[in-house]
Amino acid sequence: MTKKKGKIAVLTGGGDCPGLNAVIRAVVKTAEHNNYRMYGIANGFHGLITNNMKLMTSKDVSGILPIGGTVLGTTNRDNPFHYAVGKDEKGEIIYKDMRETVVKNIEDRGIEGLIVIGGDGSLNIAAQLSRECGVKVVGVPKTIDNDLPVTERTFGFDTAVAMATEALDRLHTTAESHHRVMALEVMGRYAGWIALHSGIAGGADCILIPEIPYNIASVLKKVEERKKNGKNFSIIVVAEGAKPIGGKMTVARMVKESFEPIRLGGVGEKLVRDIEERTGIESRCTVLGYLQRGGSPTPYDRVLATRYGVAATEAFMSGNYNTMVALMSNKIAIVPIALVASKPHLVPVDSDIIRAAKHISISFGD
Ligand code: F6P
Repeated sequence: MTKKKGKIAVLTGGGDCPGLNAVIRAVVKTAEHNNYRMYGIANGFHGLITNNMKLMTSKDVSGILPIGGTVLGTTNRDNPFHYAVGKDEKGEIIYKDMRETVVKNIEDRGIEGLIVIGGDGSLNIAAQLSRECGVKVVGVPKTIDNDLPVTERTFGFDTAVAMATEALDRLHTTAESHHRVMALEVMGRYAGWIALHSGIAGGADCILIPEIPYNIASVLKKVEERKKNGKNFSIIVVAEGAKPIGGKMTVARMVKESFEPIRLGGVGEKLVRDIEERTGIESRCTVLGYLQRGGSPTPYDRVLATRYGVAATEAFMSGNYNTMVALMSNKIAIVPIALVASKPHLVPVDSDIIRAAKHISISFGD
């Protein structure tokens, strides 16, 4: 039997996202093909802290390519540098630095380092593990929001856009039959990518994104103009991070223990109430929520996720540590993982896609 070259471990952290399993499959298969052993860590950094990992072979990843979610499990709460271990007598959470446990768990199994598939929270933790603890890491950028620095595309985004576009196609039916304003609130955090792409693909009349604060008067003008022109309905896509000029984003809740505690949500409902009150036109909001993150990834996401998984494993095997894979000019690039801490990738307001949308008379409420 050929001697194995080394051991690597893979984990998925942060919110689930279509295409995670495609990355895991690619990572395990590439390692096996090159005579490495790949361990799967359960539930993100939680499994690294609790030593919950197992050897994976191509048998373990057979059939997972079209499946949503992650077979490894995930969490956006367990930060090894700030890990909740209980509560004090006042009910306040007690945090502990678990870096020594993490390093010990990796070393005890003879694992050389980690492939971390995650969003900015998980990739920043991976960067800290490499910087402060000497752990060898390679990151794979993941999020439906498409808002990570450096990479022009994250896997999961295309699937989320497809889902939101289908929702818009379906909302047209009720909008037209009932002569209503129908708003669709989509995810995306502080970036408007999902709203922008699905809005164009789904024929929206208004697209409200965080990068362009909206003026409610402009939104009303658009709806009323359409009515005057015999279009008795309007479709609005509103990103969860959209905000009125001079106003704030709508926060749904705070998740204290999370890497990123703010959870946005609720702007769509506020907007339709406003429209109904001021125009008298019956208006409704649908919040698409987690349907955007669930289900089978699109072919585009499966291909991108596979390319990322292979490239990350190759980078690790060739000693190109403390890096992250990225898509740049449609090619896979290997960049320093520290760059994940740079500015998020937001919609440039002067981009050709915004111009195109404006030319086909989509209003951004500006
Ligand atoms: O980052 C992905 C995302 O789905 C965002 O679009 C959304 O704001 C957030 O995660 C929701 O997080 P949670 O799963 O913790 O509710």
